[in-house]
Amino acid sequence: MANIMINEICNLRCPYCFADEFVNKNPKEMSMEDFDTALNFALSSGYDERIGLIGGEPTLHSHFKEILIKLINDNRVKNVTIFTNGVKINEYLNEISHPKIHLLINCNSPENMETKAYETMVANIKEMISNRYYKEKITLGINMYKPDFDYEYILELLKQFDLKSVRTSISVPNDLAYLVNPLNYFSIMKPRVLEFFDKLKDANIIPFFDCNAMPVCIWSEDERTRILQDFPEVKNKTNIFNTYVSCSPIIDILPDLTIIRCFGLSEHTKKKISDFKNIEDARNYYARTIDSFACNTYHSKECISCYERENGKCNGGCLCFKIKDIKKINNFCNSLYKE
Ligand SMILES: C[S@@+](CC[C@H](N)C(=O)[O-])C[C@H]1O[C@@H](n2cnc3c(N)ncnc32)[C@H](O)[C@@H]1O
Repeated sequence: MANIMINEICNLRCPYCFADEFVNKNPKEMSMEDFDTALNFALSSGYDERIGLIGGEPTLHSHFKEILIKLINDNRVKNVTIFTNGVKINEYLNEISHPKIHLLINCNSPENMETKAYETMVANIKEMISNRYYKEKITLGINMYKPDFDYEYILELLKQFDLKSVRTSISVPNDLAYLVNPLNYFSIMKPRVLEFFDKLKDANIIPFFDCNAMPVCIWSEDERTRILQDFPEVKNKTNIFNTYVSCSPIIDILPDLTIIRCFGLSEHTKKKISDFKNIEDARNYYARTIDSFACNTYHSKECISCYERENGKCNGGCLCFKIKDIKKINNFCNSLYKE
């Protein structure tokens, strides 16, 4: 799956946003012509059938309805995920009804949104689930971005709408201080994460990690055993227990047809669509220049002799934590064969 970033403007200012290099910096949106180019590139492997629409806030694109209709009518596309904050989604309820369309609603705490925007988001979720029966196509998500992050509101929403799973992410930090000591970052987030997971367990709701999953060493043996006991019947339905902490190249196509290997690495991985014959080559390029060094570098001394890292199972969370070393090794390899 590739994500197409159709605009950079957003109606919220999320304090954790890892796309902040772009968001609200430029009001220009992707033209429809460039959207066609981006879409053809995203599908160019011949086997990719999933498209993500991101921004900014994608629902603010002036031709968003046209974009949805185009995707609905394109037989090459089998699944569309709209990454949205849910505030403007009510303008597209008819298009969203199509079975291809899914929503990942990034639910922000009322402390990070104006009251009216929060109420509109909740009203929109209610309309879609209670009146339109869209429950199967909606996932709610939370970014756990500070040690005392608020989770009460999303717990309430999950219970209110009887949703049984939730996307969680230890936010990829955009605070430089956290980048210096990643294991410490995970450790200081852990108590609140555990508290939240406990509440989810009581409500019979399954959390799953999106990017920047916790390396397994962050859990103590006791905590791990307890969590495993807490979620016994769902063990295979969630990745929170995985010892395999890794990610594969996700390609984001920006409004000017630059591509990056996800926002966390945007500063270091910019290429152009035109640099590649197809998306598979772009993915292979990132796999070779970035991912292949993921377990050959480490961000903390604890990782040096770690079994999971040595055996290619854990890359220590988001690769942004060690992208500078990855680039250094890559440059060194390239220099070996220069005159
Ligand atoms: C950059 S947002 C843009 C789309 C839309 N405005 C939204 O709020 O979902 C796209 C996705 O990035 C995720 N995201 C944003 N900042 C993040 C971070 N620091 N770490 C992990 N995921 C993040 C959001 O949860 C969302 O699913």
